[in-house]
Parts: sequence; structure tokens; C-alpha cells
Amino acid sequence: MSPPDPEALGRRAEAMIAELGAISAEPGRLVRLFLTPEHRRAADLVASWMRAAGLSVSEDALGTVRGRFGSAKQRLLIGSHIDTVIDAGQYDGPLGVIAGILAAEHFARTGADLPLGIDVLAFGDEEGSRFPATLASSLACAGAFKPETLLLKDARGIALGDALKAYGKNPADIPAAAYRRDDAAAYVEVHIEQGPVLESRNQPLGVVSSIIGQTFLLVEIFGEAGHAGTVPMLLRRDAMAGGAEAMLLAERIARDTRGEVVATVGRLTVEPGAANVIPGHVVLMIDMRSESDTARVQFVERFKTGCREIADRRHLGLTITPTREVPTTPCDPGLQQLMGQAIAAVEGEPQRLGSGAGHDGQAMAKLCPIGMLFVRCRGGISHNPMEYASPRDMGLAIVALTKFIERFNRG
Ligand code: GLV
Ligand code: MN
Ligand code: MN
Repeated sequence: MSPPDPEALGRRAEAMIAELGAISAEPGRLVRLFLTPEHRRAADLVASWMRAAGLSVSEDALGTVRGRFGSAKQRLLIGSHIDTVIDAGQYDGPLGVIAGILAAEHFARTGADLPLGIDVLAFGDEEGSRFPATLASSLACAGAFKPETLLLKDARGIALGDALKAYGKNPADIPAAAYRRDDAAAYVEVHIEQGPVLESRNQPLGVVSSIIGQTFLLVEIFGEAGHAGTVPMLLRRDAMAGGAEAMLLAERIARDTRGEVVATVGRLTVEPGAANVIPGHVVLMIDMRSESDTARVQFVERFKTGCREIADRRHLGLTITPTREVPTTPCDPGLQQLMGQAIAAVEGEPQRLGSGAGHDGQAMAKLCPIGMLFVRCRGGISHNPMEYASPRDMGLAIVALTKFIERFNRG
């Protein structure tokens, strides 16, 4: 079997990432949300790459594109996601799907007879940018999709279940998307680091030790809309002023933890949303993360108590709905070791680092052992159009993935 060439693979990955990155709902910025026409186009492009790589292609009830190599019953699952945040970079997600395709292609082209089959999975809902939940597609593969997720609505009031039907899927087929536990040997993912650690250590590749735990809360505050010129300040029930206090509370108590917990309000809806009307209704989504589940849970309780105190003091209504609760997910020690050996066989000292970003592995860990390989990204910048990984580093990651696959198959 001729050895894979990292330079050539890196250049191919870069071209494929650019092609996928051109599929967007908006000219001038990358927006590709779950179950949209852009998702369809991206899925079709990925399916065409899979076919060209010698994989047989199918698509499951949540829109995950699956490229299959080999007929063995037990499968090594390799994946990532093709949805994006709003105004995204091109690498977060697509790199992992493309790395899987190019690694599988290496074995398909050389006619390798591996004891384990390979399934490359292109998930459609890792970011949670459309519906107030994430990982729907990987949870379905893991057999852990919760039917109530179908009721969650996007900003236009469309329920996930209805969007799924409009995408040509039947929610009744979701249970069939689940892998049988015995068939899933492991799940591995290549992803840009999305942080500055590898760059600061001058290393191209790293092994992920764990994926950070996360709580998402949807906080709704109900006040009374009124005339901005006539209602005296002391008689107002301004939902936005209460929301602003809640946001600052989250920032203050996160700072108190000295880096143990991070909290972000990244989405805010103000109604009725006119400059001369006192806001009557505010919805904010808060994302709270920590490597320590205890610290995260304590933070969430402190934040909720503080929100109730703000609402009481300001005579506002308040509801707090958890939309996501994921504990810190450790990567499998055996897979970490193999991944480290694979990296060492390619280039550099394998680094160990935790992931502050969420990943499909958090869902797949409900099914089988998981492992992740991180690729250095410029300036640690991610969730930003400036996101960048060099073709060379991506090529090294793909070769390391092929070496990992060989080692994993040797048992
Ligand atoms: C996904 O990238 C997340 O960490 O929110
Ligand atoms: Mn990602
Ligand atoms: Mn992301």
C-alpha cells in the first residue's frame, strides 16, 4: 500500500473545504443551518465526494450522510458536522467529514481488507444554530434522540419535526437511524482545535482528553410593553432591563469562578422591538460550560436563583427552560493512546488537551468509546470567518487518521 502523501491530501482538503464553504444561505457570509436548502446542497456535495472515494452512500432519518467502506458488521465511525454557526468559518465541522472521506478513500483505493468496516458520518446539527438544541443527528445515530426534540421551534416558529418532514424525512424512521451497540467499535473525529494551545506549543496535532460539559438555558422574561415617553421610570416593568441584569449577573458569577466556568449570552430577542416601546418580552439563551460538572451545576443554580431575585424585585414574570444538559465527556484512554501513537508516527509530539467546544462525540459517547484528534488553527480563532488551518496541518491530520485506523484494526 503506497503511503498517503500529507501535502497532496492537505491541498485536496483545502479545496474541498472551500467548495463546501461556498454553500451558504447568505451572500458574503457563511450560514448553513440544519434542514435548510443549504444543508441539502452540502449533503449532496458530501455524498458525491463519498461516492467518488469508493464509499457506498445512504442518508438517515435526521439527514446524516453516511459513507460506507467494507462489509464487516463492526464499524469504526468517523465523523463531524456540516452545519455552521451564523457568519461561520469554513473549517469547524467540514474538516472532520473531509478527513474521514480522504482516509477511507485511502483504504478503498488500495483495496484494503480491514477487519472493521468504516462509516464516515456527516452530521447536520452540531451547532444548534437553528433550533434550541444541538446534536440531534448524532444523538439519533447513538440511539439517544429524544422525541420531544421534534417539538422545538426555530426563530420563525417552525418545529424541528415539521422541518424534518419538509426535508423529506419521516420522524417515524428515527429509531432505525441508531447503530446497534455491538456494531459500533468506536467513534473518532478530526476537528480544528478552536483554541490557541497547539499553536502556542508549536505543534500541528493533539489528542483530546475530554469534551467540556455544557448547559443551555432559555430564559424568558415577561414585563409590560408601554409608551417610552409616557410611562414613568418607577412604574415600568421593563423586560429588557431585567434581561440586561441577568446577563451581567452571569458574567459576574462566571468571573468569580476564575476561569472554571464560562458563560455566554449569544442570542437575545426583544419584543416588540421598537425604539419607542418599553420591551414587554425578552428571550435570552445562555450557554454555560465547565470541565467540572460540579462547578457547572453550582453555577447554573446560582444563576437561576439570581434571575428569580431580579424578576421579583422588578415585578417581572420569568421562566427558565433547560434546552441542553451535557456532562463533561471523557475520551477513551485506549483511543487516546492509539491516537497519540498515530500522531507520533506522522509528525511532532502528540499533545493532550481538553476541548472547550462541544462536539458530536458527546452524543456518540452514549453509544461507544470516542476519540478526537485536534488540528492547530491560526490564532485559535473559530466561530469566525477568519478561522484557518493550513493545508499542511490538515494533511498531517489525515495521514495520522489513516495510521490510527490501521492501528485500531490491528486491535
Ligand atoms: C459548538 O461548536 C459549540 O461548542 O457550541
Ligand atoms: Mn464543530
Ligand atoms: Mn462550532
